[in-house]
Amino acid sequence: MKKYLMLALILLSLLAFSMLPAASQEEIEVLDDQAFSKKQRPPAVFKHDEHNEKAEIEECNECHHVYENGVKLEDESSEDQPCSDCHSEKESGDQPRLVRAFHLNCKGCHQSLKKGPIMCGECHVR
Ligand code: HEC
Ligand code: HEC
Ligand code: HEC
Ligand code: HEC
Repeated sequence: MKKYLMLALILLSLLAFSMLPAASQEEIEVLDDQAFSKKQRPPAVFKHDEHNEKAEIEECNECHHVYENGVKLEDESSEDQPCSDCHSEKESGDQPRLVRAFHLNCKGCHQSLKKGPIMCGECHVR
C-alpha cells in the first residue's frame, strides 16, 4: 500500500514540474531564434530583464507589439508569442521579415537614442 502511495506522490510531483513554464524572460541571456533555417552568426547577446532595466524601457509592447490594420494597439502586448509567430523568414505585406524585424527593433532604437551597440560583432559576440 505504502509503495503505491509513494509512486502516486512521485507521479504527482513530476506532473506539477512539467506544468511549469519552459522558460521565462528573466532567464534569457542570448537570442537564439530557431525559426532561422540557417544560422550565419552567433546568437545575439540580450539579457532580457537586465537590458530593459538599464535601458529604462517601461512598456513591454515597445518590443512585444500588437497591430490592428497597421495601427499599434497601445494597451496590448504579444509577450506570450515569439517574434517569429508573426515575422517569417520571408517578407509579407507591411511586416518586415524576421531578421529585419530584429535589426529594426534593436538597432533602430540604439541608433535613435545613440546608446547601445550597432556593430555586428557587439551583438553577435563570438
Ligand atoms: C543590436 C544588436 C544587433 C546588431 C548590431 C546586429 N544584429 Fe544581427 N541579429 C540580432 C538579433 C537579436 C538577431 C536574432 C538572433 C538570433 O535569433 O540568433 C539577429 C539575427 C541576424 C541574422 C539572422 C540569423 C543568423 O544567424 O543567420 C543575421 C544573418 C544577422 N543578424 C547579421 C548581422 C550583421 C551582418 C550585422 C552587422 C551589419 C548585425 N547582424 C548586427 C541583433 C543584432
Ligand atoms: C502578433 C503578431 C506580431 C508579433 C508577435 C510581433 N510582431 Fe512585429 N509586427 C507585426 C505587424 C502586423 C507589423 C506591421 C505593422 C504595420 O502595419 O506597419 C509589425 C512590424 C514590426 C516592425 C516594423 C515597425 C515597427 O514597429 O518598428 C518591427 C521592427 C517589428 N515588427 C519587430 C518585432 C519584434 C522584434 C518582435 C518580437 C519581440 C515582434 N515584432 C513581434 C506583428 C507582430
Ligand atoms: C527591448 C525589447 C523587449 C522588451 C522591452 C521586452 N521584451 Fe520580452 N522578449 C524580447 C525578445 C526579443 C524575446 C525573444 C522573442 C523570441 O524568441 O522570438 C523576448 C521574450 C520574452 C518572453 C518569452 C520567454 C521565453 O523564453 O519564451 C516573455 C515571457 C517576455 N519576453 C516577457 C516580457 C515582459 C513581461 C516584458 C515587459 C516587462 C518584456 N518582455 C519586455 C524583447 C523584449
Ligand atoms: C527601446 C530601445 C531599445 C531597444 C528596442 C533595444 N535596446 Fe538594446 N539598449 C538600449 C539602450 C538605451 C542601451 C544602453 C543601456 C545603458 O545605458 O547601458 C542598450 C544596450 C544594449 C546592449 C549592451 C549591453 C547591455 O545590456 O546594456 C546590448 C547587447 C543590447 N542593447 C542588445 C539589444 C538587442 C539584441 C535588442 C533587440 C532584441 C535591443 N537591444 C533592443 C535600448 C534599446
